[in-house]
Amino acid sequence: MENKQIIISQFGGPEVLTTQMASIPEPREGEVLVKVCFSGINPIDVKTRAGVGWAAAKNKGNLPWVPGYDISGKIVASGHGCQRFEIGDTVAGFIGFPLDGGGYSQYVCVAEDTLSLVPDAITMEAAAALPLAGQTAVQALDKAGVQEGQRVLILAGAGGVGHIAIQVAIAAKVEVFTTCSESNLDYMATLGAHAVNYQFAPVSERVEEADVLIDLIGGDAALDALKCLKDGAKVVTVPTLSAEHICEKAHLLGFEATGMVVDPNPQQLDALLYMVSVGLLKTEIQEVYPMDKVAEAHKQIETGHTRGKILLNMQC
Ligand SMILES: NC(=O)c1ccc[n+]([C@@H]2O[C@H](COP(=O)([O-])OP(=O)(O)OC[C@H]3O[C@@H](n4cnc5c(N)ncnc54)[C@H](OP(=O)(O)O)[C@@H]3O)[C@@H](O)[C@H]2O)c1
Repeated sequence: MENKQIIISQFGGPEVLTTQMASIPEPREGEVLVKVCFSGINPIDVKTRAGVGWAAAKNKGNLPWVPGYDISGKIVASGHGCQRFEIGDTVAGFIGFPLDGGGYSQYVCVAEDTLSLVPDAITMEAAAALPLAGQTAVQALDKAGVQEGQRVLILAGAGGVGHIAIQVAIAAKVEVFTTCSESNLDYMATLGAHAVNYQFAPVSERVEEADVLIDLIGGDAALDALKCLKDGAKVVTVPTLSAEHICEKAHLLGFEATGMVVDPNPQQLDALLYMVSVGLLKTEIQEVYPMDKVAEAHKQIETGHTRGKILLNMQC
């Protein structure tokens, strides 16, 4: 048996994603071997492959490199001292962030305490969609100190992070406003958010007196959204490339503002999996690509218009 992996040997366009056959790794003490079913794709994978952003800067001495931070799969072996899981358990995790990556592999060894058990009621696809995007959503809302009854504006509600952030915020009983293109207006309404079509008018003409801005777009859209906030509002800007600039402008206007980098937290993933299992959260998966079509999957993310998540099926 071999371990097919997707690898980049240099930064560049989607064509730098190639496959290689590696041996199946042996779990060390405290590690389990996971047979990966689905691997989630995130914009950071695409930016890092292109050599853009902080993760690319950190990984430039690490090439060749196997990308991927989100996995769902089955435990197939465990190393010395492992006690949390049985062989055959279904697990999910936010792994190897930011340096090791490794999620675009058919088999990967990970520390058992970085994984979450996936309840029977949840599909492997949903479990792979949650880790990085779901924890980003939760941590952004936490950083903003979102409270029941507040008005929260979430830019890019239809994306991987946004569609989860909306549902977590609604579960916390806040009123959610969001931005999307015309094609996602109905979808946003089904999640319970008031949606503004950004192609029609700037959000600042449609939303006012918001307590919190969760910015998942950055740039000019984020600067415009600052006009929707009430005095003393809080801003969390998630895309790292423009975070410094957005925070500077927000501070000048008297808002509390911060950027963030998501921090893997298995307890948060447990909570998100629980929310899915009881029907409080539904992951949207636009498409599952076979692992050999990873370049197409990256091109889809690069359109900037993916609804929910894109996954790779690592077993076909
Ligand atoms: N700092 C961190 O730790 C961290 C963690 C996770 C993500 N991020 C960053 O956060 C951003 C969002 O991540 P993601 O995974 O949610 O991205 P994503 O899934 O690729 O976002 C795609 C969504 O963006 C929407 N969109 C595009 N242009 C828009 C605009 N001008 N206004 C409103 N919506 C727009 C699209 O909706 P329409 O098709 O309707 O336009 C689409 O549904 C990315 O830049 C990512 O790199 C940072």
